[in-house]
Amino acid sequence: MKGHPGGEAHSRRLIGLAGLRPGERVLDLGAGAGEAVALLRSLGYAAQGLDLEPRSPLVETGDLLHTGLPSGSFGAVLSQCAFFVSGDVPGALAESRRLLEHGGRLLLSDVFFEPPEPLLRQAGFRVVYAEDMTALWREYVLEALWRGDETCPTVRGKCAYWLLICEKEGNDGPV
Ligand SMILES: C[S@@+](CC[C@H](N)C(=O)[O-])C[C@H]1O[C@@H](n2cnc3c(N)ncnc32)[C@H](O)[C@@H]1O
Repeated sequence: MKGHPGGEAHSRRLIGLAGLRPGERVLDLGAGAGEAVALLRSLGYAAQGLDLEPRSPLVETGDLLHTGLPSGSFGAVLSQCAFFVSGDVPGALAESRRLLEHGGRLLLSDVFFEPPEPLLRQAGFRVVYAEDMTALWREYVLEALWRGDETCPTVRGKCAYWLLICEKEGNDGPV
């Protein structure tokens, strides 16, 4: 089972849309088996990944809500299917914003139970690109149910799956 809908093709799309600078420092929050870290490195980015339960030596143990990493130390933060699973989306957004340098980018694909733009704006991000990928999410969940795969996040209710490229607004300090 892929760790998120669309697998590598979806990660490539997310990275491609973000317009990252060559060699940019990128942090994958909830990096799981490290596929996106490996992909980012193969594309020439200085990538690292954190997960509560890393499933690859490419990924370090860490809590995406409290990384302990220095503020403003990344040009981009990527996260796929992990903020929702963490149980604290506003907390995950606050930590991502803290980790980003001025104008840094958040590359997100995740489940949302409400329109993501107001939530992101409130967290200090400007949405640069948004694409509703709910159809892909439905396919992913159905396939997981069909296979009896228990690693797929359990989500009940009407939700949407968004691909989002956001830019950190303002500078340090509270929003
Ligand atoms: C559905 S998996 C997605 C993994 C990976 N991003 C991918 O797309 O293949 C969600 C991941 O989020 C991680 N996770 C959940 N809460 C976390 C937290 N507070 N800190 C770090 N990782 C967390 C889980 O351990 C799991 O690996």
